[in-house]
Amino acid sequence: MTFQGRSECGRLGLSDCGSDVFLAGWVDALRDHGDLLFIHLRDRSGIIQVVFSPDHASPTLCQTAADLRNEFCLLLRGRVQKRAEGTENPNLETGLVEVMATALTILGKSDPLPFTVSEKAMVTGATVSSADTVTEELRLQYRYLDLRRPSMQDYLIKRHRIVKTVRDFLDERGFIEIETPMLTKSTPEGARDYLVPSRVHPGHFYALPQSPQLFKQLLMVSGYEKYFQVVRCFRDEDLRPNRQPEFTQLDLEASFIDEEFIYELMEALICRMFVIGGIDLFRPFPRMTYAEAMDTMGSDRPDTRFGLRFIEATDIFQNTSYGIFKQILDRGGCIKGINIKGRSEQLSKNVLQNEYAKEIVPSFGAKGMTWMRVIDGTLESNIVQFFSPEEQKAILNRFGAQNGDVIIMIADASYEVVTTVLGQLRLHLAERLDLVPRSTFSPLWITDFPLFTATEEGVTSSHHPFTAPDRTDFDPTDREALLYLRSRAYDIVVNGEELGGGSIRINDRNVQNKIFRALGLTDNDVEEKFGFFLRALDFGAPPHGGIALGMDRVCSMILQASSIREVIAFPKNRSAYCPLTGAPSFVAMDQLQELGLFDVKENDIIQGMDQNLDTVDALSWVSRIGIEESERSLIADAVDEAVRLAEIIGAKAGADDPLFTNINAVNRMRTKGDPLPSNHAKKGAIFKNAPAVKGNFFKVAAVLEF
Ligand code: AMO
Repeated sequence: MTFQGRSECGRLGLSDCGSDVFLAGWVDALRDHGDLLFIHLRDRSGIIQVVFSPDHASPTLCQTAADLRNEFCLLLRGRVQKRAEGTENPNLETGLVEVMATALTILGKSDPLPFTVSEKAMVTGATVSSADTVTEELRLQYRYLDLRRPSMQDYLIKRHRIVKTVRDFLDERGFIEIETPMLTKSTPEGARDYLVPSRVHPGHFYALPQSPQLFKQLLMVSGYEKYFQVVRCFRDEDLRPNRQPEFTQLDLEASFIDEEFIYELMEALICRMFVIGGIDLFRPFPRMTYAEAMDTMGSDRPDTRFGLRFIEATDIFQNTSYGIFKQILDRGGCIKGINIKGRSEQLSKNVLQNEYAKEIVPSFGAKGMTWMRVIDGTLESNIVQFFSPEEQKAILNRFGAQNGDVIIMIADASYEVVTTVLGQLRLHLAERLDLVPRSTFSPLWITDFPLFTATEEGVTSSHHPFTAPDRTDFDPTDREALLYLRSRAYDIVVNGEELGGGSIRINDRNVQNKIFRALGLTDNDVEEKFGFFLRALDFGAPPHGGIALGMDRVCSMILQASSIREVIAFPKNRSAYCPLTGAPSFVAMDQLQELGLFDVKENDIIQGMDQNLDTVDALSWVSRIGIEESERSLIADAVDEAVRLAEIIGAKAGADDPLFTNINAVNRMRTKGDPLPSNHAKKGAIFKNAPAVKGNFFKVAAVLEF
């Protein structure tokens, strides 16, 4: 069998009519008309209709074709011909022609499919079931089939083009790609590390890199001047829709540069990348300080595609007699608001009071919200009578309010509460009122971040500890003063999504030491964690800086995919699990022993891992809830009953009759009287099996999705 001389299905057209072609691909769809069998043959280039007709094909060939099913892999020969008038398919690139099959080899049969792969109807006007109706779990479990879908292939092919554009562009600009280790020491990017145990150094671990931060800085010390890498990074952090435990960065670093170099380089590069999605971005990208972003949009990654900017109103109410505002201002608080122009019809009193003030705003973390509608040139709301005529006039002026406008204000003793709640409200309102222009892309640099963020004990780095401060004459022990320092960091944000971040770095060992001191690290900690890196700063480290773009986020934005998982061939699901391979999975005990992870003696039981563990103990371990001895028999009975039910269901599985069960409903855990927390819970023993406990709660993996 040879595959030489194969034509691409998706490239056949009228100019090929009359030629004999040789095709290979998958059966995308079939239509059986008795004598005639039509199939859509799909390869990476596209789809062509193939016809098995007794006029062109032998009876044996027609017989073989009759057994074809969706997603069989085929090798075909045939002659290209123009389709009969009226049978053209405008949904196919090749819809003016078809191939009359003359030979067929089935290269691979397919089992019935877990979901439809085909995305193109055979008949004009017909629809195919969309993959959107299939659960993502099933798509990920059969990812190899999901990736056959042309829309998924398009994502990955375009992702390849984007990455190639990056490589070509950076090569043109004198950057060289250098690989850095995957088995390494922890790099501080704020997440937990994935650790890899070493067999040859028992009890010792490598960390998978959260980013190549220290290595790229070392490459600057080594004199490479301009480095980049398309590199996999690993972070064990709380999951969000735009995060993956392993993800790809375009990481770069350059010496003898300043912020302007990075802005120019990245703007030119990002514009080129977006062109692959048919998107033109305009340069220069606007810039905004962190302080302004928080002050006017309540976010360090603001979405600038729409207005709804905050308006400062604190001063209007300096002498107010409205009790709630007065109390807040007496406590040093502030008041900010937004004017939602011309939306008083959609934002009725009822919506503002009962949905926003009572439900939505409290869920964002504020105690309440003040709303006003402008009707006939005056303010209308449930509290407007508490404002003096001067205050009402000042509100109308400050907010530029006109008839039909709705003004919303948040007042709180904490500036952070006011800005972050109003920020969330801004996004909520924009979505609800459809104020977000979907085909607009608004890039924005955020600059002048605080160098440190306050923690309960002291401070932590807002970016990472290698970011240069805006000044170096600070006292590392003065917490208040540290919180006023700005950093030379910058983030690139598009449409409210942080696509990348970086900074100019510290290249002076003394300054770096001061930062570590400010972070509360002891000399021993520093030596143990970063000694190798700090020594390098003593050998003529040049001034340098860089940035990393999250390539999964960038590609999903450019390709307008619904999630970053769509542009990753084999992503993890929202619980950091791979439904295809079943990773992460338990490993054999002897493998753990070999790695020196467990020194298991013959009769030791490792909680939760021993198959022979008592069922009730195992259940208690899996559910993370400790049980009291007195509860054991109750739970054991309930488990027995569940096992019996499972057996009934198991025995019935496959039977035609529907299954009926009748379980007595009884309250198993409480005797009579008012419910009381069990002593076990009061003592805290209920948390015995929980991995981490805080107060009356134990920690579970956060799975957030919207
Ligand atoms: P930072 O931590 O900001 O910077 O990461 C850079 C970019 O990587 C992307 N990103 C992620 N994408 C998907 N899943 C994740 N879990 C995830 N975490 C981060 C984001 C982010 O903007 N070493 C520095 C860069 C530097 O200073 O040069 C760093 O890693 O798009």
